[in-house]
Amino acid sequence: MVKKNACIFISGYGSNLKALIHNTRDHNFPINISLVVSNNSKAKGILHAKKNSIPYLIINTKKRNFENVILAEIKKYKISLICLAGYMKIISKKFIKNSGKKIINIHPSLLPKFKGLNTFERVLKNNEKKTGCTVHFINDKLDSGKTIVQKSFFINKGDNVKVLKEKTQKLEHKAFSEAIIRIYRYN
Ligand code: GAR
Repeated sequence: MVKKNACIFISGYGSNLKALIHNTRDHNFPINISLVVSNNSKAKGILHAKKNSIPYLIINTKKRNFENVILAEIKKYKISLICLAGYMKIISKKFIKNSGKKIINIHPSLLPKFKGLNTFERVLKNNEKKTGCTVHFINDKLDSGKTIVQKSFFINKGDNVKVLKEKTQKLEHKAFSEAIIRIYRYN
């Protein structure tokens, strides 16, 4: 099997990146991670790239041409798939169009519910019975592209933001890889 080259965008801890790196060790997993992009020079996730000898790029989103810098690297590494794994910046319409690549995102809610930030707080405030995570294609509207995989769990009495985050991320670490397998198996 010829694996596709993927680029993972992060901003913080990188637990999803870590889970993806782990799964790429399987010969049957459809991608290799060829590049990690972070908009945050202090992101803990960069350590996962370093530890695994994956090239990484730290970008300054205050610079006007930063998207062109990323696009050049994406070309250099022959990237087919871009995975937003806790990337806390909005990808511009121009970037989506100019990259011409599949771009997927992981979001900590059962979309279309709770798009945007502070999902766990809003889930609790709304007395939801269930929550979970969604892996979806990116389009030009926030958290609105076609769903690829969604996983959910029932909320227990007393679950707080910390607990919801832990339970959601546990599901995310499976959902992201399942979504990637689905993309290359069926599309
Ligand atoms: C994940 O839970 C992801 O769903 C969320 O950021 C976290 C990153 O965790 N993404 C968003 O909220 C995007 N709107 P990680 O850095 O440990 O993978």
